Amino acid sequence: MALSPRPALAAIKPYEPGKPVEEVERELGIRNAIKLASNENPLGPSPLALAAMQQALEKASFYPDGACFNLRRALAAHLQVGEDYLIVGNGSDEILKLITEAFLQEGDAVLVCPPTFSEYEFAAQLMGGKCRYVPAVDFNYDLPGLKAAVGRQTKIIFLGNPNNPTGTMVTAADLEDLIQSLPDEVLLVLDEAYCEYVDSGAYPDSLAYVRDGKKNIIALRTFSKIYGLAGLRVGYGIADPALIASLHKVREPFNVNFLGQVAAAAAIGDTRHLEQSRQVNAEGKEFLYRELQSLGLRYLPTQANFVWMQAPRPCREVFKELLSRGIIVRTGDIFGYDDYLRVTIGTPEQNVRFVAALKEVLSAG
Ligand SMILES: Cc1ncc(COP(=O)(O)O)c(C=O)c1O
Repeated sequence: MALSPRPALAAIKPYEPGKPVEEVERELGIRNAIKLASNENPLGPSPLALAAMQQALEKASFYPDGACFNLRRALAAHLQVGEDYLIVGNGSDEILKLITEAFLQEGDAVLVCPPTFSEYEFAAQLMGGKCRYVPAVDFNYDLPGLKAAVGRQTKIIFLGNPNNPTGTMVTAADLEDLIQSLPDEVLLVLDEAYCEYVDSGAYPDSLAYVRDGKKNIIALRTFSKIYGLAGLRVGYGIADPALIASLHKVREPFNVNFLGQVAAAAAIGDTRHLEQSRQVNAEGKEFLYRELQSLGLRYLPTQANFVWMQAPRPCREVFKELLSRGIIVRTGDIFGYDDYLRVTIGTPEQNVRFVAALKEVLSAG
């Protein structure tokens, strides 16, 4: 008998993940493929996180601490907030979902600013929310447009800052203006998955707004990017304790695996790994800027660990050509731009390989 899914599911498009290295190597019969498609840290995890996990392995027979006590304590000290301001999730993806599960009623409006991270739309639609789109203008958020779009039905605003896939950033001044205008019934979600890479003095201090407590704001961060722990799935949210308490009500009892908790707590203290990761990213982005400029390809200066760049030919074609050379990137069409690519900044060697392959693709075209 045919089983009907909830009507809300009709709008949902399945997430299309970046191709895993092993899959590409298997399919093409090649070795040494590199993945510059999911904004992972090319240096890998912090050595302190690896050592902590090794020590903890034998506790795998126990359920993890559902409250993530040690990790929250470490985060609270690191961020200078109370432990009750924190919730940890199975990646920040899970927290996006907890937010809509806890706060969204069917028919509520959710503001999303494309091109952006697809999980905002997913989390909204899953709960029957109605997405209202405020498209970016030349890849920068249209903040006046966003303010104007807030209406009586608006419940949630999702802002990636820096944004994925563009790497662009909302400044402190622009965010302040938006926040001042927020009605009491609206929740602003500031997704700061890439905040540790930002090298601009104009980046907003989102935690100051959270501590201030006058508006409904949650900041989301993750151990998947600069901390190099994407495979362990650990992200967290920072918000007023009353808001956090609602999210705890809808999370599963053991939502964060114990190795992830142990690794994340150790990674926070590894400032050397963090600095190295920042440095490699900063140098990599300068290299890519120079090379793309010399090839005459447009790119957006990035505040994150990836570059949104013009594709020399339709992006799927370029993707396939690069793939045949063992390089996995992200096509812009999944964000609505057939003439763009998103490439993660890799190690110096990976960046050189990417540029060499891109030059081959250009000369072949
Ligand atoms: C803007 C943004 N937010 C959140 C995430 C998800 O991070 P996590 O691995 O913590 O679920 C990503 C991952 O690509 C992202 O780009």
